[in-house]
Amino acid sequence: MMKKTKGFARFTLILTLMFMLGSSSVLADVSKQPSLKEIYKDYFDLGVAVNNRTLVTHAEIIKHHFNSITAENEMKPEALQRTARNFDFSSADRMVEFAQENGMKVRGHTLVWHAQTRDWFWRDGRNQLIYEKDEITAEDRALVQRRLEDHIEGVMSHFGDAVYAWDVVNEAVSDGGTIHRPDSPWYMILGDEFMKIAFRKAHEVNPNIILFYNDYNSDHGYKRGRTLQMLQELLDEGVPIHGMGLQGHWSVDGLTIAEIERSIRMYADLGLEIHITEMDVGMTGFTEEEQAERYRQLFEMFKRNSDVITSVTLWGVSDDASWRGDENPLLFGRDHQPKPAFWAIVDTDKPWYVNKAEYTKAAVLKDSTGQAVGELMPGTFNLADLDFDLAEVTALELEKGHLISFYAEENAQGDAVHFVSTKDFDGAAVAAQTKSLVVRAVQADNIALNKPADANFLADRAGRAVDGEPVSSWAPNAEPPYWISIDLEGTYLLSRWAVRLQGTSVLAGQVEESPLNAADFALQVSLDGENWQDVDVVEGNIKSVYDKDLNLVEARYVRLYVTKPTSLDHNQRLGVHELEIYGTPLAD
Ligand code: G3I
Repeated sequence: MMKKTKGFARFTLILTLMFMLGSSSVLADVSKQPSLKEIYKDYFDLGVAVNNRTLVTHAEIIKHHFNSITAENEMKPEALQRTARNFDFSSADRMVEFAQENGMKVRGHTLVWHAQTRDWFWRDGRNQLIYEKDEITAEDRALVQRRLEDHIEGVMSHFGDAVYAWDVVNEAVSDGGTIHRPDSPWYMILGDEFMKIAFRKAHEVNPNIILFYNDYNSDHGYKRGRTLQMLQELLDEGVPIHGMGLQGHWSVDGLTIAEIERSIRMYADLGLEIHITEMDVGMTGFTEEEQAERYRQLFEMFKRNSDVITSVTLWGVSDDASWRGDENPLLFGRDHQPKPAFWAIVDTDKPWYVNKAEYTKAAVLKDSTGQAVGELMPGTFNLADLDFDLAEVTALELEKGHLISFYAEENAQGDAVHFVSTKDFDGAAVAAQTKSLVVRAVQADNIALNKPADANFLADRAGRAVDGEPVSSWAPNAEPPYWISIDLEGTYLLSRWAVRLQGTSVLAGQVEESPLNAADFALQVSLDGENWQDVDVVEGNIKSVYDKDLNLVEARYVRLYVTKPTSLDHNQRLGVHELEIYGTPLAD
């Protein structure tokens, strides 16, 4: 049904040549990346907003990761019917052609909107804006209704079933107290009838198409109630609305996952299919890792609600092609490479850096010239099987959250030494003493939580320091030194520790620094609970939260040993609100 356009091939060739030079990395690595559409195929369609430039420059990413596209601008009223009765489908047809050639669906965005719509729709016979007239006549309304219906008929007849779903009406609900936007010409001229006219016409033109109402912030309390009320009233009148499009222009902070999930369920309870239609997560003021965690939590929630969510569309391929500019809200960076946010949604049960290492590499081993002599994925390797000589290695680069352990015997048996990234690695010495190695992710959770605790004072309250409750504390007030020891109930490789001190308490004002915080103390480890070794000695501390990475060390037991409980000589009261130990289990 959709008319072929001749210029697409030539158009593609020109743009491809233009951008191949600038973004050859896009074509190089994409096929090795885990395909998002494959990962999510049993949950929902995975879509992306495209424009005629990104359709060429990002074609490989679009084809490899997505099975649905939305035209970012090319199917809006101003693009398709710029002047009355002059439809121009050329740009949009290129996109539909691309989708059909690559087995992708097309979401239509959007038939009726107050923006990106030429105002001839709303002018009377004397070229006056109808909504500015003192009186709007029945003739005026009939004229505008006909234009609205003709637009819907012209567009949907052209695309037919090639566009399986349409955002029939976009952003009709006000951000103020009323239901409808008072500034929408459609509403000003036709009242709330325009919604009924639009959806009924769309359904009449093609009853096969899924018809959506699409809006932003419909998951926010201030707008959700009025949107639900509007939809309920329309559905009660039998208006053919099939789905709710939640745009999903989110940020790293803002609405909680629970609030968004609650909104999704409330729209679904109207009997509506849910599409996340324009997702992006602005990261201004946050790190890429914080953005990744937000994406991970959102997709974890989407999967949980895939009984009602049937499509999730990202509003752009890469940050350089986002309407949100420097907020860098998307999965692919300005270099068109996957960001931590991409890796985070590859498997929402694992940290982004674990997923990334499993698909790319976890360790790079370099020689004295700085050249990479070897790359390793996570796993166990006998030195004899390596395709490089460990003796030449003088530097190790481990992916975040990973470590490399060298074992005296083959197959990760016998005594071991452990490393994270280091620039002074003596490969020759290690190669002489070891026969195998393991590259693994460091478990990121607190391994001291709720483990058996003992202490030289108030031993019966020592458990309060590892109960996960920031309010409770172990607080001896006698004669230092004080110690508290934790049995980790297994041998671990410690990589980080943190202690939350008196200043974190509500009584002390939850301040970042205080003289009431432990001043001189040490973290000690032991394999037998008798012989202790200092692994981090601290003097003159005033921080309320002391948090430090450790040179990897094996431990079964850990002990906090405090020699000066505050910076004030006369005050011997120690407050330990939480002692946290991070590491990874070592096979016993
Ligand atoms: O095509 C013209 C070009 O000829 C001109 O040289 C250039 C400079 O002015 O402007 C180009 O038009 C721009 C158009 O995007 C195409 O790039 C418009 O100025 C610009 O305003 C328009 O922005 C679009 C915006 O909607 C307009 O409201 C964004 O790309 C698009 O991502 C955004 O998408 C909307 C959804 O449709 C609805 N939900 C909100 C979402 C974000 O605003």
